[in-house]
Amino acid sequence: MRIAIIGAGNVGAALGNGWLKRRHDVRFGVRAPADPKYRDLPANRLATPAEAAASAAAVVLATPWPATEAAIRDLGDLSGRIVIDCTNPLEMTAEGLRLALGHDRSGGELVAQWAKGASVFKAFNTTGAANMADLSGYGTAPAMFVAGDDADRKPSVMTLARDLGFEPIDAGPLRIARLLEPLAMLWVDQALYRGAGPNFAFAVMRKS
Ligand SMILES: NC(=O)c1ccc[n+]([C@@H]2O[C@H](COP(=O)([O-])OP(=O)(O)OC[C@H]3O[C@@H](n4cnc5c(N)ncnc54)[C@H](OP(=O)(O)O)[C@@H]3O)[C@@H](O)[C@H]2O)c1
Repeated sequence: MRIAIIGAGNVGAALGNGWLKRRHDVRFGVRAPADPKYRDLPANRLATPAEAAASAAAVVLATPWPATEAAIRDLGDLSGRIVIDCTNPLEMTAEGLRLALGHDRSGGELVAQWAKGASVFKAFNTTGAANMADLSGYGTAPAMFVAGDDADRKPSVMTLARDLGFEPIDAGPLRIARLLEPLAMLWVDQALYRGAGPNFAFAVMRKS
């Protein structure tokens, strides 16, 4: 699949490199493609965000939450495209990171408002970037929940999760992002504030 990754930080680089290894046609959309900080990414796959998105079947948002609305605006018309929202609407407070919104709305649903006409999915937000880069060492495939309203295209997004070694789980419609974003916050809280570090992941177990 031709995939545009918008933002090549922790998440964008991990996902993009993983999908490149699985032979997807990845472009990293970054604001300054010539910046030496991207030297570890293949130079021929670096472009501006708008260039990367122009011909992509799937556009993956891996931007900080406060930058996400502007990043989407800079991509132009995304109607008809798969948009995978990996962001979490986090804000820093005196007590540490917390969700900036939730309960009856979600970042994923706001992304759908900003990316008019796109098929928006919430995914790749409920685990750390190190897990997205390397799932080796887990006895059970970590879960990757995928929420989105476009039933026809959801299997493609779930396949992208499987390609990285996750067990993809259909979480239901996009409004379930209201649950996935707090789940991500639980992961962040465990990792940053409860001593768990980045080497753990959520998995689903089933009775046989
Ligand atoms: N880190 C994790 O483990 C993790 C896990 C799950 C979800 N998330 C979520 O994923 C998102 C990205 O996290 P991250 O840790 O990868 O962040 P990061 O390392 O700070 O990377 C963010 C990237 O977004 C780019 N960016 C910023 N503003 C932009 C704009 N207006 N247009 C295009 N690109 C822009 C930055 O590029 P410049 O260098 O040009 O500023 C940078 O490459 C966040 O919303 C985070 O909550 C993170």
